[in-house]
Amino acid sequence: MALIAPSLLSANFLNLEADCRMLNESSADWYHLDVMDGRFVPNISFGPMLVEFFRKATTKYCDLHLMIEEPESYVEAFRKAGADGITVHLEASTHLHRTLQQIRALGAKAGVAINPHTPIESLTDILPETDLVCIMSVNPGFGGQKFIPHTLDKVRQLRSRIDQLKLSTLIEVDGGVTLENAPALIEAGAHVLVAGNTVFKSAYPKATIATLKTF
Ligand code: DX5
Ligand code: ZN
Repeated sequence: MALIAPSLLSANFLNLEADCRMLNESSADWYHLDVMDGRFVPNISFGPMLVEFFRKATTKYCDLHLMIEEPESYVEAFRKAGADGITVHLEASTHLHRTLQQIRALGAKAGVAINPHTPIESLTDILPETDLVCIMSVNPGFGGQKFIPHTLDKVRQLRSRIDQLKLSTLIEVDGGVTLENAPALIEAGAHVLVAGNTVFKSAYPKATIATLKTF
C-alpha cells in the first residue's frame, strides 16, 4: 500500500473549499502542492499565500513540490506558509546539499525531484541527506500528461539502492499516475503516488482515492 498524494493543481480553483473538504473526508494521505514559476517550467501556478490557505484547510501533511529556479530563496517563505515537506528540483539547485540542509533546519522534510532525463545515479551523493525523492514520470509543468514508462525502471533502481544503503528515503512518483499503472509502480518500490487528474477528473474522487489505497 502506498501513500496517496492528490495534486491540487487539478482541483477546481473556483471552489477549492469543496475540493479540500472532499480530500479531508477521503483516505488521501497528503496534499501535493505544485509551485511553478514560469522559468524552470513553462507554467505558473501559485505561491506561499495559497499554501497558507491550504494549511488552514487541512491537518493532512502538505507536500510541496517546488518547480522553481533558485528554490533556496523561497524555502523559508513556504515553510512559514505551512509546508511539512519541501521538494526542490535537482536540475534547479546549484548547491543542492546546502538547500536540503536549509530545509531540514527549518523543521521540514527535505525532498529532491528529478526530471525524466535525469538518471538515478545523479542522486548517489545526496541520497543520505534526502527524506524523499520525487521521480517525475512526465515533464513537469502541467497536470494531465501521459506517464513515461521508463519511470518504472528508475523506481526499481532507486528502491534497490535505498534498501541496500538501509535508508528510510521515500520514493514518490509524480505525473500520469492512473488506476492502471499504480499497482506496477508500487510493485517496483514506490512509497508515495501523486495523482492529479486521476483523482479530480474522476466521477467519484473519494472512491478513486480509496481504490488507489487498495493496491
Ligand atoms: C506536474 C506536477 C504534477 C501534476 C500531476 O508538473 O508536478 O504534480 O499536477 O498531475 P497528473 O496526475 O494529472 O499528471
Ligand atoms: Zn508535482
